[in-house]
Amino acid sequence: MVSAVRILLYRGDGQTGPWAEDFARLLPGVETVSWREGETLPACDYAVLWNPAPSLLPQLSRVKAIFLMGAGADAVLKFGAALPNVPLVRLGDAGMAVQMAEYVAYATLRYFRRFDEYEEQARHGLWAPLPPHAKQDFTVGVMGLGKLGLRVVETIRGFGFPVRGWSRTAKDLPGVDCYAGMASLDEFLSGTRVLVSLLPLTAETNNLLDRRRLATLPKGAYLINVARGAQVAEPDLLTLIRSGHIAGATLDVFRNEPLPAPHPFWEEPRITITPHISALTVREDAVRQIIDKIAAFEADQPVADIVDRQLGY
Ligand code: NAP
Ligand code: GLV
Repeated sequence: MVSAVRILLYRGDGQTGPWAEDFARLLPGVETVSWREGETLPACDYAVLWNPAPSLLPQLSRVKAIFLMGAGADAVLKFGAALPNVPLVRLGDAGMAVQMAEYVAYATLRYFRRFDEYEEQARHGLWAPLPPHAKQDFTVGVMGLGKLGLRVVETIRGFGFPVRGWSRTAKDLPGVDCYAGMASLDEFLSGTRVLVSLLPLTAETNNLLDRRRLATLPKGAYLINVARGAQVAEPDLLTLIRSGHIAGATLDVFRNEPLPAPHPFWEEPRITITPHISALTVREDAVRQIIDKIAAFEADQPVADIVDRQLGY
């Protein structure tokens, strides 16, 4: 049980009020403080934040840990050495994995069951059943077999699709063809009809899906990117969609967000766009998880989901 800790709450969008309410409700005795540009941060035990202002970072060197309000650490790690050397803890699932599974299942089924084509037909008042795709031709390849990727794999397998996964370290998952490391990436891609990215954005995954790798996917492949936009070379994706090699894409994340207008993706009917909503932070679940992790820190117990700064996730 944690008592009497002081926590800095900070969000780039300023929306910390509901977080303060949840902490007050779920952790009696907690004191939460906020910070604004130009202010001196009072002594705090922990920081809980998202999209920090660069000028806040040096003031965090005395906290015991920095907790992120999301799963990806890239937006904080990008500050490099300016980020104080205290443990950085990301959210581990906390209600996001099931949302990812819903989103990827929807996008996969929409393409597999040709609902995208039926939507278009219906707009033109056309009643025309299309030949169904064969499931054995629809291997779903999930890049990233972490907290979110594993839940997606389990869900997609439940529909009976052949599933393969790719990760940095080797895995052994029942019913899943597992590939690991860069040396196996081309082989993984060459047999993947629906490619899902659930990789963190790191030095290794930045621009990973370039023209050559996207072209390694079989003709008619489909991309679902729910991880980070910078993993995909956007002009290359567009070229391959326009050439017909890639059938289309459902994209939740982009190199620049919000996706600017004009951007050719907005004009491409084979690209479905959502505004980075595939898995939203469930605030209450996140606060409960952070409180448990603070208790672990206070008791000198192991804490899950500490970001490895060398690996970048
Ligand atoms: P995680 O548990 O850390 O899993 C990351 C997975 O990626 C692991 O399987 C890891 O391999 C693999 N990986 C990392 N670097 C790799 C590389 N160079 N080559 C091959 N595999 C590599 O992360 P998570 O919680 O599942 O989250 C994944 C990402 O989803 C986040 O980083 C974030 O960017 C994104 N996300 C997006 C949204 C959204 O709304 N769009 C919401 C939440 C998260 P190992 O298993 O071998 O370590
Ligand atoms: C959202 O993109 C997250 O990383 O939690």
